[in-house]
Amino acid sequence: MSYRTIWMWLGFLTFGACFDDRPIVGSRFCRHNENGNPYSSTIAVSAAETLAATRELPPLPDSFVFGVATAAYQIEAGNGASDWAEWERLGKVKNGDRADDGPRSDELFQADLAALSELNVAAYRLSIEWARVFPTRESFEALTPNPEALAYYRSVLLALRTRGIAPMVTLQHFTLPNWLQSSVGTGAVGLSNPAFILLFESWAKFCAEEFGDLVDEWITLNEPMAMLAAGYAVGQFPPGRSGEFKQMQEATRIAAFAHARAYEAIHEKDRVDADGDGTRAMVSFATHARAWLPYSANAERDVIAARRQRYINNLVTLDAVVCGNLDEDWDEEWEETARSDLRQHLDFIALNFYSNAAASYLDFEPFLGIPAPANLPNQLAKNDLGWDLSPASLRQVIDELAPYGLPIVITENGVADSLDNRRPKNLVDTVREIQALRVLGYDIRGYYHWSLIDNFEWDYGFCPRFGLYAVDYSDPARRRTPRASASLYQRIVRERGASNTLAAQYPTYGTDVVDCQ
Ligand code: BGC
Repeated sequence: MSYRTIWMWLGFLTFGACFDDRPIVGSRFCRHNENGNPYSSTIAVSAAETLAATRELPPLPDSFVFGVATAAYQIEAGNGASDWAEWERLGKVKNGDRADDGPRSDELFQADLAALSELNVAAYRLSIEWARVFPTRESFEALTPNPEALAYYRSVLLALRTRGIAPMVTLQHFTLPNWLQSSVGTGAVGLSNPAFILLFESWAKFCAEEFGDLVDEWITLNEPMAMLAAGYAVGQFPPGRSGEFKQMQEATRIAAFAHARAYEAIHEKDRVDADGDGTRAMVSFATHARAWLPYSANAERDVIAARRQRYINNLVTLDAVVCGNLDEDWDEEWEETARSDLRQHLDFIALNFYSNAAASYLDFEPFLGIPAPANLPNQLAKNDLGWDLSPASLRQVIDELAPYGLPIVITENGVADSLDNRRPKNLVDTVREIQALRVLGYDIRGYYHWSLIDNFEWDYGFCPRFGLYAVDYSDPARRRTPRASASLYQRIVRERGASNTLAAQYPTYGTDVVDCQ
């Protein structure tokens, strides 16, 4: 089973507690309105379609940020001190693919910069590879960073600032130094060890001190829940554990505290307002939220399972770091509420939105034999990984997150589409959805497309192509070539949205796919 099927798999992961038919009571959520986070069990109706039937959607204001996103391990070579390099050596990546053979942005950043300039985006989300900066525990403890790594990241950040592109920096995007997490023997196990909290705080402190003069937007952890499900429930990511649900819950709790400590460290140490807008630091963690749907819309138990999954995946960590409400065993009863060391440790919601996910517990046992996403009972077009293409579902997720009362930035959204015959429509429809949701009053402030270039797609290696720019891995120069989607995004950025006329050019999705499943 792969990371890609985790979303399906988690739909079946309902841990005893979910097997009773208790309704989910709104007041359990830390919302300030009585209804809690609204839930819809059917695919949302597109807000854009509804509104655009009567009028043109207004363009997005100048303050709305268009950007693109990447992550260090997925685009850089030479990160051999990371846990993922060990994971590759253990043969855990499809076709034996290795990130070292990827786009090599550490060497070819100028090519990425040229692409960023061509797109004319205002922002670039990237990550700093902890293991590149501190390859050994000793170097971290003594705070003696690798000077070349520091110089490299500084030159990247400086180059971005010089071109007027605001960097948004992620401190941990799925990888950890191998000294902190190893999948071999009884090696260190990253987030399931409470020591992680202070280590991560120190890492955040270091980065904020070192790069705070160039960075104002920070993401602490990328998708902790997705990463921990992959690492502890299905063994598809380091540390490669399966069925270790207690550890996964403990690691989720640790992630919340690690985020909160990093949040404080960044606010303390980032003393420079790099872009002069009056704010030195905006800090969030990136949450991967899907629109959770019942596998069978008519099965009441599937509806309950979908709501449970929505709670666990989309809300538990936000409840902790926005409201201070800690639900350690995910039973929807808070063990502790309004903890001051957790609450109000988020400046905006960073949403990675891709697709739907289906939940059921009719087939809870056994775990195997779970239908692949492509087999979901719907007619939606799919990406090369079999995920539904459903921009309309963004509405459901935004609806769920809006009650937290924070601005929302979409920090990832994109399509695995080698042929680039579905990405364009998905991009247009998603941007239009954002335009429409803003008309409806939702506070969405930015959109970062995943991804700038093709990259190393974790356990799937190089098959899934998410790039606006294609990377030819057989070319020693790793040339970046714009796909049609790149000029489309350029136009969207220029016109600050997608007009009815533009949308009319993309009536349907292409049907040819490259199967990466
Ligand atoms: C992750 C990225 C990944 C993308 C596409 C996101 O969940 O943050 O690292 O490449 O999904 O699978």
